[in-house]
Amino acid sequence: MKIAISNDHTAVEMKKAIKAHLMDRGIQVTDMGTDSPESCDYPIYGEKVGRAVASGEADLGIVICGTGVGISMAANKVKGIRACVCSEPCTARLSRMHNDSNVLGFGARIIGIEMAKMITDAWLDAEYEGGRHQRRVDQLMEIENR
Ligand code: RB5
Repeated sequence: MKIAISNDHTAVEMKKAIKAHLMDRGIQVTDMGTDSPESCDYPIYGEKVGRAVASGEADLGIVICGTGVGISMAANKVKGIRACVCSEPCTARLSRMHNDSNVLGFGARIIGIEMAKMITDAWLDAEYEGGRHQRRVDQLMEIENR
């Protein structure tokens, strides 16, 4: 399993903690930055992870900014990406099971590192159910072609 991860300046410490957590789980992590606390623009980093996942370079992606919103929006602009912002594990789990989310977002100014780890684990431990959800996921992705 390969995961691409990125963040803006608000989330350097949280990114490092989640990266270490992923590696502890035996996951190969591609860190797409930033490692600097200097103010930067989250769209650049959301797009990087979106493109890594859409191209197959990574299986899944994790993006972190202050709220998780802007960087997830950026990832979602890449064709093939289904990113969702989560502040608790239940939404993360269901986003995999029902929506086949392929990028997870969270906010370093919204949740703490322990909650971020719990959300990450819930997301990684869940599996897409397919079945009745596939039609809806297909419809979601067809929007990109209109
Ligand atoms: C940066 O100040 C902040 O706007 C950004 O981290 C994020 O929360 C945007 O959605």
